[in-house]
Amino acid sequence: MNTDQLMSLALEMAGLTEIPGDSAIYHPGQNLHKVMFGIDVKAPEVKMAADLGFDVAMSHHPTGGQARLQFHKVLYRHLDQLTAAGVPLKAVQTIIDDLAEEHRVMASMSNYDHDPSVARLLDMPYMNIHTPLDEIGRRRLQDAADELAPTNTVAELIAHFQSSFGEFRHADTQIELRVGQLDRPIGRVVMSHGAGTNGGYPVAKAYFDHGINTVIYIHCRPADSKKLIADFGDNVNLIVTGHVVSDSIGINPYIDRLRGEGIEVTTLSGIIPA
Ligand SMILES: [Fe+2]
Ligand SMILES: [Fe+2]
Repeated sequence: MNTDQLMSLALEMAGLTEIPGDSAIYHPGQNLHKVMFGIDVKAPEVKMAADLGFDVAMSHHPTGGQARLQFHKVLYRHLDQLTAAGVPLKAVQTIIDDLAEEHRVMASMSNYDHDPSVARLLDMPYMNIHTPLDEIGRRRLQDAADELAPTNTVAELIAHFQSSFGEFRHADTQIELRVGQLDRPIGRVVMSHGAGTNGGYPVAKAYFDHGINTVIYIHCRPADSKKLIADFGDNVNLIVTGHVVSDSIGINPYIDRLRGEGIEVTTLSGIIPA
């Protein structure tokens, strides 16, 4: 495989037709048989991959180049997910515009070429795949949530996630209920993931304001969940599944597929086995 084919396989698995803003080939390569894959693969790991004889260094999180500069575009996937859940576009357009603008400006302030430049100097193939793998994870988690009835409790949903995904059983973090009560019904559930990063307080609030009873994030700042408690008390549920474990749920099917194609994949940096 080459770097284009590695990217295309992920797009195909996620049902996407083009490379999203947060994913990129920083330095292309051909005839790739030995892959190093991590959640955060930056300049030191690229050098390590070259030293250890890998053919390509792959990161989940974007580290630079266009994947950093265009990252803000994938935040608009929140609008697709929100409107699919019945939230009116006019209620959330400004929220996502503001979030995207903040990310665009912060990215433009950064040294976006640092990690890619190291790969070029070493002539080491290097790329990242973010949203396609998060979309795979989002679907798996939403599908698992949809196997339960609205009358099932939050505790039952958490237990169902733990029994459905070995990653949750193997992780050192726990699935946390940040807002709500474990013995309450889950009602309507949205897995909010695969849109660059979590939508924080305003996106969760928009779901709760429009009939969603349980929002699931993979991570959420404490300040955001505190604001939700101030607004909603324990009348809605915010479940936080954990960052690297939930990323792993989207990454592992892709790695399994690569191995099925005869590619040797070594994982590091937070990837938790199923
Ligand atoms: Fe992710
Ligand atoms: Fe992540």
